[in-house]
Amino acid sequence: KRPAGAPDKSLARPVTKVGIVGAGLMASQLALLFVRRLEVPVVLTDLDQERVDKGVAYVHGEIDKLHAKGRIGQDKANRHKALVSGAIDKGEVFADADFVIEAVFEEMSVKKSVFADVEKVVSPECILATNTSSLSITEMAADLEHPERVVGFHFFNPVAVMPLLEIVKGGATDDATLATAFATGKALKKTTILVKDSPSFIVNRLLGRFMGEVGRIVDEGTPVPVVDGAFAGVAPMPPHQLLALVGPAIALHNVETLERAFPDRFYVSPALERVVAARKTSYYGPDGALDPE
Ligand code: CAA
Repeated sequence: KRPAGAPDKSLARPVTKVGIVGAGLMASQLALLFVRRLEVPVVLTDLDQERVDKGVAYVHGEIDKLHAKGRIGQDKANRHKALVSGAIDKGEVFADADFVIEAVFEEMSVKKSVFADVEKVVSPECILATNTSSLSITEMAADLEHPERVVGFHFFNPVAVMPLLEIVKGGATDDATLATAFATGKALKKTTILVKDSPSFIVNRLLGRFMGEVGRIVDEGTPVPVVDGAFAGVAPMPPHQLLALVGPAIALHNVETLERAFPDRFYVSPALERVVAARKTSYYGPDGALDPE
């Protein structure tokens, strides 16, 4: 059955090569998913060789782990590893890509300049997907020559495990792009839903309200371990562990975007701001124990 709002799947174009902009943790998780499910060449790109090498090494390491666990045979592991490569210069490696996804810093100007650069080197029909978790797809596409090929393709952390994929139709996104996005999401074995191009889409908007209340409880003086302890057995992950997984800076960015859009409904927690200002990646101490500071 066609997912609600998805255009006719006959409009979908084949994806035979994937380009990924960024080689950080989210980008590398995406590379792993694309290579395992689509079995096509996947190229990770970033600003310097060290980051690119780290991204490719992550994917190779995860494939080795799957082999060691007996999930995939040696032949498949070798084949998948050979399909993943890295580059700094996108020019040549993206020229024959049909699907490019960006997973760079969550900042509109950065995303826009990435897409402007990518558009110079890809074919006019290559899909430009963004893994943004909160920003407007319409605005991101606005200055491009072909805004109709831009689509939101929002995954959740950890990418290998979380089943949902939010597909976001921007103001200019055409049916062929949307059909290709849905077909690709299906091939990646994700549950695809069409969401409106509104701040933080559906899941992060809901999470933003939830995390705002968590922040209020902490700001009112309840220690972090007590708040997290309250969740034992209720949710798969206590809230501050989820914050650590997502990254406090991304969580803060999300709630700030929402607060700008809906000032009466969202709360930016000073405790979260302090964690981000201190460049902490988590509310947990180095030994993994909860750190209420
Ligand atoms: N990467 C890859 N695989 C992982 C993983 C990771 N980081 N963490 C866990 N897994 C895998 C494990 O390998 C295991 O797989 P197998 O069963 O095949 O061996 C499976 O997940 C279950 O892992 P565990 O038994 O170790 O742990 P668990 O049962 O506690 O589950 C969890 C771990 C799936 C992460 C679970 O805690 C969970 O669902 N947490 C909530 C995560 C969540 O809500 N994510 C959304 C965040 S919001 C977001 O991402 C939006 C955004 O834009 C910022």
